[in-house]
Amino acid sequence: MKITILGTGYVGLVSGICLAVKGHVVTCVDKNESIVKSLRCGKATIFENGIDNVLSSAIDQKNFFVTSDLNKALEGVEAVIIAVGTPYANGQIDLTYLLEASRQIGGYILNNDQYLTVIIKSTVIPGTTDTLVREEIEKISKKKLGEFGLGMNPEFLREGNAINDFMFPDRIVLGYEDNKTLSILEKIYAPWNSEKIKVNTRTAELIKYANNSLLATQISAINEIANFANKMGNINMQDVVKGIHLDKRWNPITNDKRLNPEILNYLKPGCGFGGSCFTKDIQAIKSQGEKLDLPMSIMNAVLDVNSNQPYRIIENIKKNVGELKQKKILILGLAFKPGTDDVRESPSLKIIKDLIKKEAKIYAHDPVATKNFIDSLGSISTKIEFIENWQTILNQIEIIILVTPWEEYFSLIDCKIDDKVIFDARRALPSDKISKAKYLSI
Ligand code: UGA
Repeated sequence: MKITILGTGYVGLVSGICLAVKGHVVTCVDKNESIVKSLRCGKATIFENGIDNVLSSAIDQKNFFVTSDLNKALEGVEAVIIAVGTPYANGQIDLTYLLEASRQIGGYILNNDQYLTVIIKSTVIPGTTDTLVREEIEKISKKKLGEFGLGMNPEFLREGNAINDFMFPDRIVLGYEDNKTLSILEKIYAPWNSEKIKVNTRTAELIKYANNSLLATQISAINEIANFANKMGNINMQDVVKGIHLDKRWNPITNDKRLNPEILNYLKPGCGFGGSCFTKDIQAIKSQGEKLDLPMSIMNAVLDVNSNQPYRIIENIKKNVGELKQKKILILGLAFKPGTDDVRESPSLKIIKDLIKKEAKIYAHDPVATKNFIDSLGSISTKIEFIENWQTILNQIEIIILVTPWEEYFSLIDCKIDDKVIFDARRALPSDKISKAKYLSI
């Protein structure tokens, strides 16, 4: 099928190249000419595991194109997918890009005798597709729903694992307002045999929000319990997590065999979640709920626990080593998680800002995110020494805080660290293998 995608961020681009390698003919549209140029040469403009290989395959198969000309990109296509950013700003979700895209598509429908199905992939508050998007397209195109199609197909892509998540989805949610859209969505995802959930668009929108909100709720709940365990002392939190998730209500037993739920690999007590999605989505659903006169107490608590979690790390270190003034501290990892150069909402930002306030001497390392981190921190970044090779600085360091569990940091256990305090803020290191060193974690 011929498909056009608006947006070449990590959702639009990953969806575009994956749909292309599965056999669809995809054109991605971006206003920015330098992005268009780079993608045409097979060079992705975002950092994402494995993306360049899939991009090159899609180009080689002559199934993937990029342009800045939306009208041209819409010629002869059956479906257009909107995958533009929906940031959170000034107390609510910002739909500027989404509505602008809806208007442009409406303009195309007005001027062309072509049936188009419009599918929203951007994360939006439930009720956005069947009200705001629909109204905008109807107003500009002077056509009614049915003369064009409307759907909502949320993404569940984790940064750093996005290609894999698109290629091997746990489920695919097909939200639709008209039957023709459902058959278009089924045709798009025909190459996948994962379970497909067919629902109306606002149900599809809520599945996405509820999924992110409940994953984040699990993280904050475990962190709150871990903070409690920490105060009590002599409790192994990983054993607690395991003990909870062997309850068969979380972890079903089939044919006498227990499954190994991914949540056990995912949940790690520590410095809390970062990234562009969890915080933004919870803030958006929370403020929408409050507008509807709901207290949204759980969402408030999830954000509250999370925003304090980085300070718990510092509190813990202080409890063990005393004042941090002039202490030489190495921060390992600046990205909000491994596999990405994204530093949005990264716990490292809060940890480092607080340590600077406490007049510690900060050294920092990340394999790919240092530039973004400096841009995001602004002028106070001059107070940090950014290190290219973290192993070479170890002999000068007193405290190491592991914030992003990049694989290269796992070799820390083979380094000479006997005289240092290590705070493993992601519970990524095998604590039993760190001899003599003072190993701390939440
Ligand atoms: C998240 C969801 O996992 C995806 O399903 C969703 O599609 C995506 O948001 C989105 O809305 O686009 P992502 O933010 O890329 O994906 O990353 P995750 O792997 O879920 O991690 C989020 C943050 O939680 C990271 O900072 C991670 O370190 C942190 N985390 C995770 C914890 O702090 N504790 C944990 O126990 C687990």
